Amino acid sequence: MTDRPLLEADGLGKVFRLEGHTIPVFAGLSLRVRRGETVAITGPSGSGKSTLLNLLSGLDRPTAGDVRSDGVSLFRQMGGGRRAAWRARRVGLMFQAFHLLPEFDVVENVLVAVRARGGGGPADRKRAEALLGRLGLGDRLRHRPLELSGGEQQRVALARAMVNGPDLVLADEPTGNLDAATGAQVLDELFGLVEEGGRTLLVVTHQPDLAARCHRTLVLRDGGLVESPP
Ligand SMILES: Nc1ncnc2c1ncn2[C@@H]1O[C@H](COP(=O)(O)OP(=O)(O)OP(=O)(O)O)[C@@H](O)[C@H]1O
Ligand SMILES: [Mg+2]
Repeated sequence: MTDRPLLEADGLGKVFRLEGHTIPVFAGLSLRVRRGETVAITGPSGSGKSTLLNLLSGLDRPTAGDVRSDGVSLFRQMGGGRRAAWRARRVGLMFQAFHLLPEFDVVENVLVAVRARGGGGPADRKRAEALLGRLGLGDRLRHRPLELSGGEQQRVALARAMVNGPDLVLADEPTGNLDAATGAQVLDELFGLVEEGGRTLLVVTHQPDLAARCHRTLVLRDGGLVESPP
């Protein structure tokens, strides 16, 4: 165990530029997340929570500052190809609206993540099917997303996020589109997979009960990120 954080951000800022006007979202953000930590991010709508996750996953570039994973800068030391490879191997992503591919069946949707890191052989398919089985989808493997309930779709997205054994899981309101009971089940499965793998979780949420399950909560407000009192 090293003291170096798994994920660090310093002086992070984002300004969107749209046809002559600018939209500043946040500035001067710092963040340290240790390996194995679970962190909730809350804040009002429009405060930049999704934007922050996009920067931390390297899907979007900051306009100021930097993000480091295990001490390596995503933007100064990695180019686009290496950043994509890092994300494919080490990061699992979940979204409020699931973001499954409607033309692909359940197994193929999970294998999308495997193919992104250059895998997809029979052993990978077996692993994907076993994970889906564990999540209660063993008899839904050939279904397409629109033939599934919302909770089932989010379980497929959970399997896709976890199939490569990521160090870091970034989830943007993963239960925001689910009813309370279904959301609670998906959360149990998410936290189970995160905790048993010693993984690190950053989860954006508006739900106090979800935030309460995390080691700590950060609040994004007025362009800054502050630690919420326990
Ligand atoms: N691609 C973009 N181009 C221009 N402005 C953007 C873009 N993406 C986000 N914004 C703006 O940045 C601000 C932050 O958006 P963001 O989606 O990060 O908020 P959020 O905290 O996730 O909100 P919510 O809780 O509603 O999901 C908003 O004012 C939004 O309009
Ligand atoms: Mg958002």
